[in-house]
Amino acid sequence: MLTLAIIKPDALAAGRAGKILSRLEEAGFTLRAARLVRLGTADAEAFYEVHRARPFFRPLVSFMTSGPCLPMALEREDAVRALREVIGATDPKEAAPGTVRALYAESKERNAIHASDSEENAKREVAFFFPDSAPV
Ligand code: CMP
Repeated sequence: MLTLAIIKPDALAAGRAGKILSRLEEAGFTLRAARLVRLGTADAEAFYEVHRARPFFRPLVSFMTSGPCLPMALEREDAVRALREVIGATDPKEAAPGTVRALYAESKERNAIHASDSEENAKREVAFFFPDSAPV
């Protein structure tokens, strides 16, 4: 099963991408596709469409377009649940010790990594960034 992770602009700018990918590989994930991208406003708005009405939507779009990010399709058994467990809670203050956000996130807004929250969204999000080819 595949899921989508995005190493966000804060973590990429801080030079944490390698450590984060290493942590995900240690947790049993295999990298199936990856692409360094600088999202435009329309891309970020489309990706986070479900959050459009939330108060954090504009700051989220602004942050996600502030620099390059690294979307990745990751494979593992029970991938969606397992990835959410290894990245930890949205707010690093609430994230369990050893999780990616506990280790590398600066704040709830600048929280280092995104992960799909359901199998349905994982399919949509993998296709959003990797539409032309099935991940290898
Ligand atoms: P992510 O997993 O990318 O999905 C939505 C993002 O919105 C979330 O991580 C956070 O980076 C950001 N966000 C900012 N404020 C909040 C909030 N109050 N609740 C949830 N997500 C938030």
